[in-house]
Amino acid sequence: MKILKHSDVTPRNIYLGRREFVKALGIASAASLVSYPVSAEQDYSKKGKLNTFEEITNYNNFYEFGTSKTDPAEYAHNLTTNPWEITFDGITQNKRKFDISEILKGKPIQERVYRLRCVEGWSMVIPWIGFPLHELINQLELDYDTKYVAFDTIFRPEEMRGQRRATLDWPYREGLTIEEAIHPLTFIATGLYGRELPKQNGAPLRLVVPWKYGFKSIKSITKISFMKKQPFTTWNAENPREYGFYSNVNPNVDHPRWSQATERVIGEGLFGERRKTELFNGYITEVGDLYKGLDLKKYF
Ligand code: MTE
Repeated sequence: MKILKHSDVTPRNIYLGRREFVKALGIASAASLVSYPVSAEQDYSKKGKLNTFEEITNYNNFYEFGTSKTDPAEYAHNLTTNPWEITFDGITQNKRKFDISEILKGKPIQERVYRLRCVEGWSMVIPWIGFPLHELINQLELDYDTKYVAFDTIFRPEEMRGQRRATLDWPYREGLTIEEAIHPLTFIATGLYGRELPKQNGAPLRLVVPWKYGFKSIKSITKISFMKKQPFTTWNAENPREYGFYSNVNPNVDHPRWSQATERVIGEGLFGERRKTELFNGYITEVGDLYKGLDLKKYF
C-alpha cells in the first residue's frame, strides 16, 4: 500500500487560501478530478467508478446542519475545526484530551477508495485519505475488558444550526464492537481527493466503516469512549425497528419501509442507475468472520 505524508496530499489548499483554492480549482479542473489517479492497491472499492468531488461534497447527510442533502454544503462552513480536541474515555492514561495535531502526528496518511452505501438506498465511491482506526487505538492503554467503542460528534448549536432543533437526540453518537473498530478496513478519514476533509463531509476527522450503512460513519468526532456495554447509538435510539446496532450492508434484510436489494449510484445517468447491493458492501471475505454465528436478520 502506498504511504503518503500529509505534505504529499494536502499541499495546494495550504499554500493557497481557501477561497483562492476554490477559484483555482474551477469547474473544468474539478471535472478532471474524475480521472484522479488511484493505484490498484489503494482501490478497495471493488471496481466502482469514482464520484466527482462535486457529487461527494454537495449531496450529504449531516443533520447537524439540516435535513436536506444540500444543507451541509450550504451551512457547514460555520463550523470551527481549528482548534479541535478529542477526548478519550475508558483508557488508563491520565491524559485524556488531545489536540488533533497530537493525534495526526507521525501517522502516515493512506488513501482508501471505498463505496459509501447509505441506508436510504444510494451509494457513492469516494477516495478518502486518512489512517486505519487501529493505529490510533494502538497508542492508547485501554481499560481491561473493553468490548465496544463509542463515538460522539461535537455539540455546538451556535455553529450547527440543525442542533437548535430536536431533530435527533444530540450529540450524534455511534458505536462499534472493539473487533470492528480494530479491523484493518475501519478508517479515520481526514481528507478526500487528496485534500483536507471538507466540513460537510465531517472535518476535521470522521469514521469510515465501508461494510456498514453510511450512518455508522460518524462525522466531526470529538469523543471516543471504550466501553464494556453496547453504547447508545443515535439512529437505533431514534427508531429501533428501522436501525440496528450492527447496520451491516445487507441486501437480504429489507428496511421496514423499502427494499435494500439495489442501490442508486449517485452520478450514474440522469435518474441514477441502480446496481445490486452486495452483502457487507462487497467486503464479505474481509469481514465475514466478525459475524460468524450471528443471526444477521435479528442483529441487523
Ligand atoms: N454524522 C453526523 N454527525 N451526523 C449525520 O447526520 N449522517 C450519516 C453519516 N455520518 C451523519 C453522520 C449518514 S446517514 C451518512 S449516509 C453519511 O454520514 C454521509 O456521509 P457523506 O455526507 O460524507 O457522504
